[in-house]
Amino acid sequence: MNQNNKTFYITSPLYYVNDVPHVGSAYTTIACDTIARYKRLRGFDVCFLTGTDEHGQKIAKSAKQENKSPQEHCDFISNKFKELWELLNIQYDKFSRTTSKIHEKIVHEFFNRVYKKGDIYEADYEGLYCEGCEDFKSEKDLTDDNLCPIHKQKVQEYKEKNYFFALSKYEKKLVEHFEKNPDFIQPSYRKNEVLGWVKEGLKDFPISRQSVSWGIPVPNENKQTIYVWFDALLGYLSGLLSELDSPTIDSTIKRYWPCSVHIIGKDILRFHAVYWPCMLMSADLPLPQKVFGHGFLTKDGEKMGKTTGNIIDPYELIKEFGTDAVRFFFLREIGFGKDGDYSRANFINRINSDLANNLGNLLNRTLNLANKNYNGIIKCPGNTNFLGLKDSTISTIEAYEKHMDKLELKEALDVLWQLIDSTNKAFSDKAPWKLIKNNELDDAQSCLYETLIILGNISILINPFIPETSIKIYSQLGFNKPDMYNEWEKLGWKDKEECFKLSEAKPVFPRLDIKP
Ligand code: MSP
Repeated sequence: MNQNNKTFYITSPLYYVNDVPHVGSAYTTIACDTIARYKRLRGFDVCFLTGTDEHGQKIAKSAKQENKSPQEHCDFISNKFKELWELLNIQYDKFSRTTSKIHEKIVHEFFNRVYKKGDIYEADYEGLYCEGCEDFKSEKDLTDDNLCPIHKQKVQEYKEKNYFFALSKYEKKLVEHFEKNPDFIQPSYRKNEVLGWVKEGLKDFPISRQSVSWGIPVPNENKQTIYVWFDALLGYLSGLLSELDSPTIDSTIKRYWPCSVHIIGKDILRFHAVYWPCMLMSADLPLPQKVFGHGFLTKDGEKMGKTTGNIIDPYELIKEFGTDAVRFFFLREIGFGKDGDYSRANFINRINSDLANNLGNLLNRTLNLANKNYNGIIKCPGNTNFLGLKDSTISTIEAYEKHMDKLELKEALDVLWQLIDSTNKAFSDKAPWKLIKNNELDDAQSCLYETLIILGNISILINPFIPETSIKIYSQLGFNKPDMYNEWEKLGWKDKEECFKLSEAKPVFPRLDIKP
């Protein structure tokens, strides 16, 4: 099915540039890239936007520590994100930066729209603020020793005259939106948390700061800058513009808006599932279709943190194990949405068992037998189901599709590996090498042909997850389609006319002989 005419817009969060990228940002971005690649495979007109969130107190402070101007610091770290995305084979279409001129124009236009609507007013603010979260806190949010529970740091008390956004005005409309769109917040178990916040009552919140200078100035004001979240969320609109577009909100929403899905970590759900939709309602703009909050990664069962030294360095991981191994591990091991753990032993075991053994060996032994005994040409033996895997191949494709459409990434991989397991088993049971020895060449050819059909399907279906490996397998099978765009059409049980002209068998995933 060609779904060419349909657009699909997916975003990662815009990452703070206070520090170099860590594994948490890599995890979100890998997941987004996998979903975007899946949609391209299905023939969608995809836009995958990622980027960096560059304003606010926290970033100004980091720049100062580095003896750089805030802008120099932002440019430097923003490039680090781009470099890591390149290493991870992330195929983004847009990179949104909140210090761009275009972004500033969109933020101003948005602010003015909301102001005209009567949803921005001036008032005194007196309260607490956590710089780590870039968020306002109330006393009940804090730990017993008055620290932010997430950053374990002191919150600031401040008192200022600020501009406020009339969030409370949209409470009823937001609840109605949740009721009419039961899939708006995903996974469904996150919905209750959001409903809980709304039930407590939505409070208007300050959207400007007098004491923060590193930010977008409030229009027609020289004393205040716009609150970093009110600015950053708009990066999902402004980042859609190219140099050729006029920098207006109307042009941002022309092609891809409303967003199909915002992928975020569960820690920033409130901003995306409450603030953002209300801001958009106020500006009379369509709401995103879905907000998906994934879980948090831990290392060896413990929370990660620079101070404790318990961190996973994405650069080290890629250097040691390669891009596809890193992409694969996190999505295969952890249910997307749930919290999950990394340990070196699990990582090595997972790569060895799934990629080197199950998938790698199946490919290798099929290709070696075919090349040695049939000169790499395996003909279609006609309507056969010698291995007995025709139905399960077709049902695997269907199950994979259902899981991917629901963003159940781990479950999609689970069904693929079940098929790989059964194929390995059927292959061993039928023992084509024995059939060849006994001169039962037709049966041996059926066995190889059907395994190749399954491997062809697998190589397409793993493409969103491990694109490099997928292309390697695809080309060893004799196909050439490096971008895999719309290759979904090639899936299925083809037992009519197809003939494989195989290439040389090269191991795609050598076993890792390292001690965990
Ligand atoms: N700048 C905001 C987002 C603005 S979007 C308009 C922000 N940036 S962040 O850099 O702090 O976080 C980015 C993402 O990384 C979040 O989705 C967050 O959940 C994710 N992670 C940070 N640590 C993580 C783990 N330990 N595990 C998984 N993801 C985590 O928030």
